[in-house]
Amino acid sequence: MTSDKSIPQLGLGTYGRTGSEGIAAMLEAIEIGYRHLDTAQTYNTEANVGEVMRRSGLPRRDLFVTTKVADYNLDRTKFMPSVRKSLETIGVDQVDLLLIHWPSFGGVVPLEEYVTALAEAQQQGYARLIGVSNFPIALLEKTRALLGNDAIATNQVEIHPYLQAPNLGDYARKIGLQLTAYQPLAKGEISGDVTLERIAAAHDCPVSAAALAFLMAEGHIVIPASGSPANLRGNFKGLEVRLSDQEMTDIRRLDRGYRRINPDKSPAWDD
Ligand SMILES: NC(=O)c1ccc[n+]([C@@H]2O[C@H](COP(=O)([O-])OP(=O)(O)OC[C@H]3O[C@@H](n4cnc5c(N)ncnc54)[C@H](OP(=O)(O)O)[C@@H]3O)[C@@H](O)[C@H]2O)c1
Repeated sequence: MTSDKSIPQLGLGTYGRTGSEGIAAMLEAIEIGYRHLDTAQTYNTEANVGEVMRRSGLPRRDLFVTTKVADYNLDRTKFMPSVRKSLETIGVDQVDLLLIHWPSFGGVVPLEEYVTALAEAQQQGYARLIGVSNFPIALLEKTRALLGNDAIATNQVEIHPYLQAPNLGDYARKIGLQLTAYQPLAKGEISGDVTLERIAAAHDCPVSAAALAFLMAEGHIVIPASGSPANLRGNFKGLEVRLSDQEMTDIRRLDRGYRRINPDKSPAWDD
């Protein structure tokens, strides 16, 4: 990994990849070619990610690792100790990307306090890049006003063929911010979709690869998760699939604003 601002466009979500089975799945993914691992303070996978990074034998710079500060650690007294704890748990001096996992619900911790702490974590060398997750446009605007227009490398949000987030997507394109699509397979719910099945058959690839290829062609980073070697391999094929303009149009029509992750602490979404 160089010192540039690019994020590998296809990464591995590690939610649920706990225990020795989690390690085996992550090692399999690295064997297939995944070089970007997405973890969080709340996933209980930071230690596994570190273990896998060491066992892979790859130079540190060849693996891109993201972690996220939990919403219960946004308070200034907890923020930096929690980041140091994450680095210790993973076993690295620096993560490639550090995200705010969720904005503070109801603004209990003021945005200024925790985005400033995020920038400080970067200045102290704890993170090469910084970003946010589950941020709507209004909070992105405030963050840019506080930190500068180019400070944030990505906003990680739920995006898949059934939730394409056109309002947020248009805004992100306008300001040159890349979105990271979490749950890009809608947790497997896109399997069996007639349109995606037809397009996948035309490309001789799994439905998941067609969906991921679509999201990447839209400019998004994708972080699908799987514990199955066959699915890990099938998802990675998304990097090879090139969809036609007509196929892109057909998949765009699948958007139905279907949001899977919408806990009480959610901000007011744009889509
Ligand atoms: N920032 C946030 O707030 C946030 C929220 C949610 C998720 N995330 C991140 O996004 C990552 C991905 O989200 P996710 O794991 O919830 O959902 P996902 O990647 O959309 O879907 C994973 C599910 O789909 C199945 N699957 C994977 N590949 C498949 C394939 N080729 N064919 C059929 N089924 C397949 C998996 O089962 P198998 O294991 O059997 O393959 C698993 O049940 C997470 O791991 C996490 O890193 C972030």
